[in-house]
Amino acid sequence: MRFHVLTLFPEAFAQPLQFSIVARAVQRGQINIDVADIRDYTHDAHGTADDYQFGGGHGMVMKPEPVFEAAEATLSAQIPVILTTPQGELLTQKLVEELASSPAIAIICGHYAGVDERIAEGLATRPVSIGDYVLTGGELPAMIIIDAVTRLLPGVVGSPESVAGDSITTGLLQHPLYTRPAEFRGMTVPEVLLSGHHAEIDRWRRRKSLERTLEHRPDLLSTASLTNDDRRYLAG
Ligand code: ADE
Repeated sequence: MRFHVLTLFPEAFAQPLQFSIVARAVQRGQINIDVADIRDYTHDAHGTADDYQFGGGHGMVMKPEPVFEAAEATLSAQIPVILTTPQGELLTQKLVEELASSPAIAIICGHYAGVDERIAEGLATRPVSIGDYVLTGGELPAMIIIDAVTRLLPGVVGSPESVAGDSITTGLLQHPLYTRPAEFRGMTVPEVLLSGHHAEIDRWRRRKSLERTLEHRPDLLSTASLTNDDRRYLAG
């Protein structure tokens, strides 16, 4: 999988992607991250990539010419071109899965007050927001997209089961996890997890997932696939 990132701040991508699972995926050649500096495609001595808004208003707007030229110089085939923007479609695990099935994706990082609408119209195929809050720029959202897509690629995360059983992928939030020691500062690991009874453990985990989802994300329950047993427990 190849990620093409178009940004005014390429230095933002230098360190954050150089540790743990994403770094290993790069080293193994499972992913490539090509970062293009939009400012390299400006034509004045100051490298001007933004300008005032037509119609007035606070905040600068990213100019279309350097972004189009950066895209034309670095992108070839018809690939999804994401624009990171709070005005986009919300990033969900379903969208992440869809993106992971593409051999390459491009991500244009918006910055300042936003980008000239012609970038959204004529270049981006997929405006994406990572949540209902506003960040200073689209670089962190781009890294989040790269991270979430990378861990779905075959062989990137150790066991496929841990991806298949993900929180959200299953439609519910994940159950609590514990490791050693069995007792820590008076807090103990639930007995059932030490019992070795796999059916009981599965039942406990399912119920904890249901409880957590009901508490923190009740909206997910309307689309999660629930058994009659689950429904009885929730009604319980
Ligand atoms: N740029 C600023 N805020 C953003 C958000 N929530 N999602 C994507 N891009 C952004």
